[in-house]
Amino acid sequence: MLIAQITDLHIGTGNDIGAEDNYHRLLAVFETLSKLKRKPDVYIATGDLTEIGSVAAYKLLKQMIDEVNPGVPVLPCLGNHDVTENFKKVFGKTHIHEGFCQYSVDLGDVWLVVTDTHDETIHGGAFDEARADFLDRAIEEANGRPVLLAMHHPPFVTGIDWMGARNYEEPWLVQVRDVIKRHSNVKKIICGHIHRTMDRPFAGSSCIVSSATAAQVHLELAAITSSTADGRPLIVDEPPGFALHWWDGREFVTHHGVAGDFDVILEYHDRFRNVMRDVFHVPE
Ligand SMILES: [Fe+2]
Repeated sequence: MLIAQITDLHIGTGNDIGAEDNYHRLLAVFETLSKLKRKPDVYIATGDLTEIGSVAAYKLLKQMIDEVNPGVPVLPCLGNHDVTENFKKVFGKTHIHEGFCQYSVDLGDVWLVVTDTHDETIHGGAFDEARADFLDRAIEEANGRPVLLAMHHPPFVTGIDWMGARNYEEPWLVQVRDVIKRHSNVKKIICGHIHRTMDRPFAGSSCIVSSATAAQVHLELAAITSSTADGRPLIVDEPPGFALHWWDGREFVTHHGVAGDFDVILEYHDRFRNVMRDVFHVPE
């Protein structure tokens, strides 16, 4: 099972959506993934699918998904830039339960659970008892099978203070933590929102954040204040990113990649077959 994670697409930053950078950055990610010899079995898009939640942006995204990945499911998760009602107008109600984009899917080897940490009025994460209860039940349905849990906001303090949570005791973090702690079969939690790669153990599981397909947040862990603007870069034009989660039969192995055409230093041709066999012990 190979699961591609794309996140923070932010489609629809301008009026001419098809001409914008974020559209082309997402296309570049799809192209890079489509060139792999081992292609993803499924995609998960972990939120901020659009910039302002416009119907036009969701329509363009749906068109891209249908054209670029025919037959490969792209499973949604919503972020703070998304608007549930507009998402529903284009993608339907399949993934909406109790008013939120939260659901589970049997992927064969693993059980995928998507939870919804977004509140359209705030930038940071949100959760409540109803969503905690839904999440608890969705994980329970896995019946002990390995669970991959997707959510937009990372449920921990990231160190990039202007983007993420600043206090481990924020109520929504505690609520998410309390659910995860009850389930030892949550193998990996995958998030977006920060527009950078990072990972951290979390509530007996492990949590990773993927870089965005849109522009990235500058890597800077120095404290930030609203009283002094220190001139630091905030958003930078690093390449579009994605993550590949490979289930090895026991655990998830996460690979982080970037889209683009890079010069090839070495190719695998016949003259290297002996080296593969004798040095790297690659089977015939
Ligand atoms: Fe984002």
